[in-house]
Formats: sequence, structure tokens, C-alpha cells
Amino acid sequence: MSKSTDEIRQTFLNFFHTKGHQIISSSSLIPDNDPTMLFTNAGMVQFKNVFIGQDRCDYKRVTTSQRCVRAGGKHNDLENVGYTARHHTFFEMLGNFSFGDYFKKEAISYAWELLTSNQWFNLPKERLWITVYENDDETLGIWKNNIGVATDRIICIGNNKGDAYSSDNFWQMGDTGPCGPCTEIFYNHGDDISKNPLSVSEDNRDQCIEIWNIVFIQFNRHPDGSMTLLKKPSIDTGMGLERLAAVLQNVHSNYEIDLFKKLINRIKKIIGLDDDFHSQSLYVIADHIRSCAFLIADGVIPSNAYRGYVLRRIIRRAVRHGNKIGIKETFFYRFITPLIEVMDHVANNIKYKQVYIENILKEEEEQFSKILTRGLVILDEKLSNLTNNTVDGQTVFDLYDTFGFPMDLTEEICRERNLKIDKNGFEIAMKQQRQRAYRAENIFKANYNNTICIDIESNFKGYEQLNVDSTVQAIFVNCQKVHQIFSGQNAVVFLNETPFYSESSGQIGDTGILIGNNTEFNVENTQKYNKAIGHIGQLKTGNLCIGDHINAQVNEVRRKCISLNHSATHLLHTALREVLGEHVVQKGSLINDKYLRFDFFHFEALTPQQICNIENIVNKQIRYNLKVKNEIVNFDIAKKKGAIALFGEKYDQYVRLLTIGNFSSELCTGTHVMRTGEIGLFFIQSESSVAMKVRRIEAFTGEIALEQVHFQKRQIQDVMRLVKANQSNFKEKICSMLDYLRTLEKELKEFQEQHVIRESIVLSKKAVELKSTKLLVSKLEDVKPTMLRNIMDKLKAQLGSAIIVLAIVSKGKISLIAGITPDLTKKIQAIDLINELVKKVGGKGGGRPDIAQAGGGMNIQALGNALSSVHTWVNNRL
Ligand code: ALA
Repeated sequence: MSKSTDEIRQTFLNFFHTKGHQIISSSSLIPDNDPTMLFTNAGMVQFKNVFIGQDRCDYKRVTTSQRCVRAGGKHNDLENVGYTARHHTFFEMLGNFSFGDYFKKEAISYAWELLTSNQWFNLPKERLWITVYENDDETLGIWKNNIGVATDRIICIGNNKGDAYSSDNFWQMGDTGPCGPCTEIFYNHGDDISKNPLSVSEDNRDQCIEIWNIVFIQFNRHPDGSMTLLKKPSIDTGMGLERLAAVLQNVHSNYEIDLFKKLINRIKKIIGLDDDFHSQSLYVIADHIRSCAFLIADGVIPSNAYRGYVLRRIIRRAVRHGNKIGIKETFFYRFITPLIEVMDHVANNIKYKQVYIENILKEEEEQFSKILTRGLVILDEKLSNLTNNTVDGQTVFDLYDTFGFPMDLTEEICRERNLKIDKNGFEIAMKQQRQRAYRAENIFKANYNNTICIDIESNFKGYEQLNVDSTVQAIFVNCQKVHQIFSGQNAVVFLNETPFYSESSGQIGDTGILIGNNTEFNVENTQKYNKAIGHIGQLKTGNLCIGDHINAQVNEVRRKCISLNHSATHLLHTALREVLGEHVVQKGSLINDKYLRFDFFHFEALTPQQICNIENIVNKQIRYNLKVKNEIVNFDIAKKKGAIALFGEKYDQYVRLLTIGNFSSELCTGTHVMRTGEIGLFFIQSESSVAMKVRRIEAFTGEIALEQVHFQKRQIQDVMRLVKANQSNFKEKICSMLDYLRTLEKELKEFQEQHVIRESIVLSKKAVELKSTKLLVSKLEDVKPTMLRNIMDKLKAQLGSAIIVLAIVSKGKISLIAGITPDLTKKIQAIDLINELVKKVGGKGGGRPDIAQAGGGMNIQALGNALSSVHTWVNNRL
């Protein structure tokens, strides 16, 4: 019986554990602290800064099974998924890492032992091929002499991709960062085991596949392309779990391993498909549900930019494949349940956010489905009119712009029909969008020269103490290290021990002072730089030098307020899940000394009753005066116990678990109260929407909450005084006042109506005969401009056939209206008449042949003559 994928993963980790490696959890798909990367695309990403010496790891040897996405960015496999047996957008990468500990010899022999020893994977050596980087004689020698691999099974590969260091055997994480030569192990699945990775034909690439890449991390690559040699050469290896499982389970495609077989069977059952003809689309869907689920669980949401856009492209590609195999209803989100079942504990993150993930997928699919069919019709039309075998760039762009067809989707549809697309033309049409994308993409290009690079570790004492004697370890001015600063200078100061909390977990950084002999440094903010805590601020008096002894004092009052808000945020989080449901997922938070802000996923606005319930639950926990416990625990144990872990946060092996009585349990590095009673009072100030299905609660605690209560009370009292009411009849009084107001409004309207009728009767009598047509020109008093139109309608009805001009002067401005009954508009048009008057009195006019109005005229002296001139003007036209 071959091992399951789950067992293979565990065996790999166990093997390296026996070789002294610490097993570390996978990090998020969103690289922590690395703006240069789209997604975690290899096991080494979470250790990037350790390799280049900017960060430290507690262990010299570690091993992981890392979730990876290779879609977009430097390593992009999206277009290959469904077409090859070995490509995925999402996969797990098994890896072992040495940080300046063992190097080539051990790394190679560990890999060989694990793969070929009958204690472990026991692979037939005759099916394995080795590649090494050309001129890496040391590695070649190890394979030949230490491992005993025959020379003819080792292939040297040089810079086969053009530039220096551009080779299949020189691995780079991205355009910058750690990199180095590598040696790869290939497995020949085929019948002809003499075929090696270079001799298999392009169509047969799946026959001889790379299974393990062992990278000798020796360089750091900079944005300008230059490379610096690292002080400590290290090891980074990567083996695709799914590829390894295919080898060990003796199947020729990753999609035939136990995990995919189960997943695809469950998918087929759900959509009621029982044939195997659609395997390519099923592979695409099974692959894509994994990347989409894990990406959303790690905090990505579909959008038109960057990570969100890549996710959108993957979802749309999956939906199109579903459509292709005839699925009619919204389907993609339904595969989350089987995914959780199949991936079991690896999918814990997804299980916790299941409703949220399903919701996002459903919405995205529904949105895309609305346009997919129409887009496909348009594309079909274009394709049937093609005169050559290439679809022009403008069409590809239009499909993208109007129907949201990503270029690769159009390309794929064309590829299925042996057609090409004009990518250049598309790029030109996309120029504008690309410029926008480029601007924002720059956000992702960090310039490390503008950041503080520091390798010390600060000891944070601020959970227990707010005042600590310490020594200055480093000082930076404008990101440059200095030895000393003088009064008035802004700087970032690093200490060996500090009570200052650096901004994280939504909690703002502490403020306070660093006091030395005749020296005072004002700390305005505190931030973390790798493992060092930086005190940002200004030196008020004296000088400050590296090595100086100072007393670091946190602003206690401010810190206390922050801690109240932070503990209340945890209570709120649990209360929200109690009142609204388990789908509530934190989307962000801000905790400062004034208030707390909590953003979370929920479908609709909260009702006043729900808000009240939430406040009640939180305040009840405050009254219970629960003990707040803060302990360091193993991450996996904490998660198993159901502690809430957040999106995008990077957690170490050991994490800080914050429990509040039995009510809340959350991973958190923030500072908190000792007992909930200290919070005093929790008061929700507002509930609003910040994005689709993301709600925001802003709330106060402690004295500020009480101040808010008082403030609102005062406002109510002021209103009570104004309406002459008391507590008991306040609401009734306001209601009856509103009723009274409504009655008055109604009466006023009726009164105005009567007024209009009376006025029009009087006016109609003033009409004069002109060439057997009635002409009425009048300036009205006591009439509001808003009533003019009404009077005009009444007059037209009364006079039957007439030309009418009315004017009023109100607040120094003239309002005019001209009306012509329909029988006369052929001869005279109201708009011409109004324009004629506007010439004389000023203002602006507009309207139709039968009715026109003008307003804003200020030449009141001219109004009399203007109105008198109407008679002649009309007479000349009748
Ligand atoms: N980082 C190397 C890879 O991804 C091991 O192939």
C-alpha cells in the first residue's frame, strides 16, 4: 500500500526532525513584511530575511510544508494548469533549511537518503537524474564521489536563459533577494528510463519531472541586478508534495494522487457528473478551488489590482471551465466543503472562515456569470469572422474591459481552437490601465536603502513594566546609523530592553520619554524593525550616544487607555460571533488611546437590537471582572484549542495566547488589562459599512465611554428643555410635535393651492384680446416663485387658448414664466419669449415651446418696460 499524501508530508517532516530540524508551520500566502512579492511561492519565503542576515531564526535547521501559490509574479504556472500533469496554482512545498549551518554535502546526502533509502521512500535510483549548475564542481564532486551517482546520470546546466545567473540551475526567489546555484533531482516516470530531462521531447515533459530542488543560497540580489555574497551560505530546498506523492503512489499525474482523486470525485458528485471526459476542466477546477480558498483565507479578496486581480483571474478561469463542462448553477463555492474534508487539518484555516470564503466565491461567480455568456457570444462572433489565426489586441482588450475576461482566459479559449491572440496589441490598448497598475505596483517595490536595517533583538518588557533602565544600542537618523545625536534632532533609538510597545496587532505604538543624565528623548511613536524595537522621536535636551544608560518611561495614562480598548476589542470579537454567527471574521482593527475600531465580515447592517445585545454581552464580561491571561504556547496547540488567529499575521512556532476568562481566546501580542473590570464600560458609538460585506464598529471604553454617555445625556436634556418635555413624556412629545408639523405642512399646502386658484381666477380676467388671441402679462405680488408653475397651469386651463407671461420679484431677483397653449406654439414659442425678456432683465432662461422659465434677473427697473414690450412682440408674430 502506498503512502497517502498526508503520510508523505509527515514522513518528510519526521525525517528532517530526526536530522535535528525544527518543524515549523507554514506561513501565510501573503508574504509577511515583503512588499516585493505577490505571493509566497516557495518554502524559503518566510525565511528570506534570515538568509540575507536581516532577521534571526531561533533555529539553525528547520523543516516545513509550506502552502504556495504560483500565479502571477516571477513564478507563474496559471496558464499551465490543466494542460500538464505537474503544474498547480496552489501546492505544498516540502523543504529543509540550514541557516549558516550545514551546506552542500549534508543537504545532498539528506535528500538522497530520504528518497532512496528503504527505511524511507525507497525510490529506484535508476529512475533518478541529477542536474547541477555548470562549473559548480564541488556539487558535481559530491554527487559522484560522496553519493556515488554515475557521471552519465548527472547533467550540467549553464546559463541557459540568456543572461549571467539566468539558468534552470540558478534559483532566485524574485527580482531581488536571496539566490544561488542549485542542484535538482528528476524522476523518470516513463517506460524508457534512459530518457533524461534534456532528452525528453517537449510534448513529453511530464515523463521526466523535477521533484526536488536543492538551492545553495550564497547571494543577495539587489534591485539594480548586482549581487552580494552572503556571510553565511545556507540551504533552501523545495519538493512539491503533490509531485512526490505522484511518484510514490506510482501515478503519472499529480491529479491522480489520492488527494486530487478524492477531491475530484466529490466535485463530480456535487455537480452530478459521472463521466471522465472532462478531466482537463476538472483538474483546473480542483486546482483552482485550492488556491482560491487558501488565498481568501489568508486575506486576499477579488479585485482589479494585484493580489486581488490574480485571485479574480483564477476564479474566472475556474468558472469558465465549469461553464464549459455544462454546469448551469453557481457552483464553485460548493467545493469548499469537500476541500476541507480532503485536506483535513491542513485546511483548518479554511474551516474557520468557511462561510466567509464561500460568500466571496459565490458573489464573484455570480458577478462574472452575468457577463460570461454574452462575452462568449461576442468572442465567438469575432472568431468566426477571423481572416487569419490571430485575434487582434483591441478585441482582447474589449473583452477584458467590458466583460472582465482576463487576457489569459481569452488566450485559453483561443488556444482550445488553435488560435493565437495579439498580446502586443492588447498591451498597447491596456496602456492606460497598465500605467495605473504600474503606479500602484511601485508600492510593492521596496527600496531597502530607505529603510532601517538592523540586526539586534530588543527585549520587550512592557507586558509587566512601564519603566525600565536600559542601554542605547543603536541610533538612526534618516535611516543611517549614527553614533550620537544632539538636542533638536529627530531619530530612531534602539535599546537592549524596553517597555515601549511597537505598533502591531492593530495596536498603535507607545509614546513616552527616555531619560538619561541631562538628556531627554521624547518618544512620539514606537515601531518594529525586524526584531528590534525603534523609539521614534526627538531629542529635547542634551546628547544621546550609543552605550548611554537611560530610563525608558512609557506614557502610562495613554498606555492604560490603549490596553482597555485592546481587551475590549477581544470581548467585542467574541460577542459579535455570539450574536451574529461564526462567519464573523476580523478584517482589521485599530486600537489607540481614544477608541477602538473593529472591521469584520458580515452580510448586512446590524439592527439596533443586535448592537444592544453586543454591548450587553461585553459589559457583562466586564462586570464579571474576568481574569486576563497571557501565556506563550505552541502555535499548533493554540489553534487546536480553537484560539482565534488572524488574517495575514505571521505567527512563530511559539505564540502569545490571550485568554479572557472562558469567554475569549485569541492569539495576540498586544497589551491588555489584568482583569476585565478595569475596562469599566463599553459603549458602541457607531456601526457602518466600509466595503462590500465589511462592517465597522467604533466603540469607547472606560472614562471616554462614560464621557460619551454624559455627552449624549446632555444632548437629550438640551432637546428636552427645548421641547419642554421631561424624561417620561419626551418621546411622545417629539412624536406629537412631528405630527403637528405634518398637519401644518398639509394645511399650508392646501392654503397655497387655494391661493393659486384665487390668483388665477383674478388674473384670467386681466387677459386682453390680441388678433382674437388672449394675451395675459402680469406682475404678481405675494406669490412664491415655486407657485408660478402651478398658477400657469391653472391659467392655461381657464383661458383655453392664450399667451401668458407672469413675473414676480422676490428677494431682489426676478422670476419669469411664459406659457403658450398648444394651439399657438406653431406661431409663438414660450422659450423665444422668455429669451426676449431675459435680454432685458438679465438672468438665465430655459424651457420648451409651451412653457419656459427664467430666474436670477436683477434689472428690476427694466421689468415694467420688458413686460409692456410683450404686447408688441406677440402682435408682430401673430
Ligand atoms: N526555493 C527553491 C524552489 O522553490 C527550493 O525551487
